[in-house]
Amino acid sequence: MPIPATQFIWFNGKLVPWEKATVHVLSHALHYGSSVFEGVRAYETPRGVAIFRLRDHTRRLFDSAKIYRINMPYSAEVVNDACRQVIAANALKRGAYIRPVAFKGYGEIGVTPRNEPPTDVAVAAWEWGKYLGHDDEEAGADACVSSWQRVAPNTLPALAKAAGNYLSSQLIGAEARRLGFHEGIGLATDGTLSEGSGENLFLVKDGVLLTPALAHSVLGGLTRDTVMRLARERGIEVREMSIPRELLYLADEAFFTGTAVEITFIRSVDRITIGNGKLGPVTEALQSGFYGLFSGRTADKWGWLDYVDMSAPRVAASG
Ligand SMILES: Cc1ncc(COP(=O)(O)O)c(C=O)c1O
Repeated sequence: MPIPATQFIWFNGKLVPWEKATVHVLSHALHYGSSVFEGVRAYETPRGVAIFRLRDHTRRLFDSAKIYRINMPYSAEVVNDACRQVIAANALKRGAYIRPVAFKGYGEIGVTPRNEPPTDVAVAAWEWGKYLGHDDEEAGADACVSSWQRVAPNTLPALAKAAGNYLSSQLIGAEARRLGFHEGIGLATDGTLSEGSGENLFLVKDGVLLTPALAHSVLGGLTRDTVMRLARERGIEVREMSIPRELLYLADEAFFTGTAVEITFIRSVDRITIGNGKLGPVTEALQSGFYGLFSGRTADKWGWLDYVDMSAPRVAASG
């Protein structure tokens, strides 16, 4: 589906018309992958539009930049504000997907040039529905274990949400779709479970929630963190651990988490039905706790919702 364009993109400190947010073809990031980004969601709530875990996403953006020594020319607060501005300026009242990105721009060419190219920063937002894209979300996702492994520790840092990591995700996701699955699951280089091409992985076995630990080449997902907190609050034991592949087939329930997929249950893996192939009680309880944050049924005791002042004066676009 083409990106549903909005009016403005925040680009290097100001709102510019959508079609003018462009870069030079010799930008460093385009050639060498030197880009870090975030995927953030804003939800429509009874109190107005709220951005979910905005400060945590921005912190992860800065953490990703730190790992790659990408100089950030703006403060975290400026980036947070840019996220709010693109929601308000584009009147995205029904919620949105927000994409902040920071990348090495146009300057010298070469992998490690003598003078660092300037860092460009942009934040765009648009309306976006379900990510895994199958028509009947209630039916769950059919996944496969990919023939591609996730990146090995000490090669590319999985905790950085960097553009280059998504070459691995493209191989895993495209292979799965080519073979008729909704999503692929990558194994870590030790053969244990890692994560989906763009989401974290959870299993439920005998009432315990299991997820691969951060050392297994996974992104430290904020939905992953949210789900673990909601589970512990509900008295569900959570274990972050090393998980053998076959436990996936033997799980009572399995699901993906991510900003894009939210909490999507997995119906089958490698054509083996997980549990009874239906949405299980633990997944359902966690989904209801999660979506309740946006409907108001779950108290936001963590301060995860960042309400956007839609009546804020629209910044005049320039450029
Ligand atoms: C590779 C990968 N793993 C996990 C996630 C889930 O992270 P989050 O819940 O913060 O969106 C994402 C999405 O950002 C991802 O791209």
